[in-house]
Amino acid sequence: MLKGKISKISGPVVIAKEIAGARMYDVVKVGDMSLIGEIIRLEGDKATIQVYEDTSGLIVGEPVISTEQPLKIELGPGLLTSIYDGIQRPLPEIAKKYGEFITRGVNVTALDADKKWLFEPKISVGDEIGNGDIVGIVVENGTFEHRIMVPPTLNKLHKVTKVAKKGEYTITDTIVTLDNNVEIKMKQEWPVRIARPFKKKLDPDLPFLTGMRIFDTFFPIAKGGNAIIPGPFGSGKTVTQQSLAKWADADIIVYVGCGERGNEMTEVLVEFPQLVDPKTGIPLMQRTILVANTSNMPVAAREASIYTGITLAEYFRDMGYDVAMMADSTSRWGEALREVSGRLEEMPGEEGYPAYLATRLANFYERSGRTMCLASKHERTGSITVVGAVSPPGGDFSEPMTQNSLRISGAFWALDASLAHRRHFPAINWIKSYTLYVDQVLNWYLTNVGADWKELRDKAMFLLQKEVELQEIVQLVGPDALPETEKIILEVTKIIREDFLQQFAFHDIDAYCSPKKQYWMLKVIINYYNAIAQAVERGVTLQQISSLPIKNEIARMKEIPLDKAVEVLTHLADKINNEIVALEVL
Ligand SMILES: Nc1ncnc2c1ncn2[C@@H]1O[C@H](COP(=O)(O)OP(=O)(O)O)[C@@H](O)[C@H]1O
Ligand SMILES: [Mg+2]
Repeated sequence: MLKGKISKISGPVVIAKEIAGARMYDVVKVGDMSLIGEIIRLEGDKATIQVYEDTSGLIVGEPVISTEQPLKIELGPGLLTSIYDGIQRPLPEIAKKYGEFITRGVNVTALDADKKWLFEPKISVGDEIGNGDIVGIVVENGTFEHRIMVPPTLNKLHKVTKVAKKGEYTITDTIVTLDNNVEIKMKQEWPVRIARPFKKKLDPDLPFLTGMRIFDTFFPIAKGGNAIIPGPFGSGKTVTQQSLAKWADADIIVYVGCGERGNEMTEVLVEFPQLVDPKTGIPLMQRTILVANTSNMPVAAREASIYTGITLAEYFRDMGYDVAMMADSTSRWGEALREVSGRLEEMPGEEGYPAYLATRLANFYERSGRTMCLASKHERTGSITVVGAVSPPGGDFSEPMTQNSLRISGAFWALDASLAHRRHFPAINWIKSYTLYVDQVLNWYLTNVGADWKELRDKAMFLLQKEVELQEIVQLVGPDALPETEKIILEVTKIIREDFLQQFAFHDIDAYCSPKKQYWMLKVIINYYNAIAQAVERGVTLQQISSLPIKNEIARMKEIPLDKAVEVLTHLADKINNEIVALEVL
């Protein structure tokens, strides 16, 4: 047994001496309370440990025992609906066993080892199987097909010598035996700091549809892509992340919450289990895993939580599913990194963050992607899309967390306090935001949504940019100084903002908008613009146009049910043309 002694304690950081033979990143049990920690620096027989539990009460001289294993999580049936802390300790089970306060040194397994699951084999004796191959399935929560895979640790294909019959087994029962005597169980483990392997990365050319117009139409991202949502306190990071969890086209949601306010995570823990999956009517938790760090939990567990989250995501991706991972807020994670780095007395970089902040962030975001899964048969693809919220202090996007995240992510969905103030929701700033995925997902949109999708989108964006210029002029010299041709731009951008971009997360019809409905709404608006531009050219006045009842119909587009949207909006687009063409010059 590899054992040392505590020689120093500094908040979440503990130094152990005389622990010869210990390895970097091995998990250790610290002190008489057996607190969980991880070795993050080694100098000879002196190990620096970040401890995932409150270290108060530890005393110099107490033992430190290495488990000689890296920080791993358990993967298998039972993950869905779970609520874990940053190192995969099941919070509700701990509360049941030890009370509401997180007791230290607790020993509760992440997955229920006693529960029996109905396992149905998908292979037979004599089959040759390898890493990632599906050996059978378990139906979890009545609907979800949990695919039991060969853990990716074999170095070649092996013949199956034994397979369990269809029946009830625990996650630690052997269900398959291979000719090299390896026994496969429903549970596997994986070290969180190492990406799970896959066959190859695929081009991210399918959109990650969100049902939100500002994203799908203006700033789309690809399945397997990543986006960041920076925004000051109260601008809508959490509401947006939860809407994505509800509506985005993902099979599985991994939601990593690092509380901003004292009770915010508690709110998430209460609210999330009440959310209903709008597509099925089933509680959203049935296809969700929550990783929660309340602000009273030690910082080191927060640091680990995003790796725990992404490893969970990778496991479901490997089954061939589309996974969405939300991290809210990554700034709290960055602060944990900064605090531990400070305790290590490392040379601080910008604003006290360690110099490796950028590398760590990149290592995390790079684990997203659309991939061909590891398998020797049953080819399948999976994806992990990551959306990370960032909360820059004072909403200043030049700070290191925002800047470093921005460099890595493919899309920047910038929340804006002044929009939130004006109750323009989602408060995404359409001028500051950007996406690098348009070219990649374009083909999908042109084929599945509309051949002029890009023209419409580009036209709307152009008008919104023009609006900024025109507003400056209006502020200087008043609206009357603008010619009619420019006044109509302001008329139309108001419609784009209010009747297209504004979309309330809690609206019963409009909370989710299909890509087709988005396209037709925009087509109506751009049609309106083109029609009035021609009318104005003929000499029709803006006042004549503004008094047409058609504008009210445009303002009510959001209320059109999805199943009627295409029909009603096609009709509206024609009607606009006819009514405006019919206007006579006075
Ligand atoms: N898309 C939205 N639709 C409706 N209301 C919203 C939306 N986004 C934000 N809000 C409002 O703004 C408030 C603050 O949002 P929240 O997501 O908690 O901010 P943050 O996480 O950035 O601090 C919410 O309680 C809600 O009232
Ligand atoms: Mg929030």
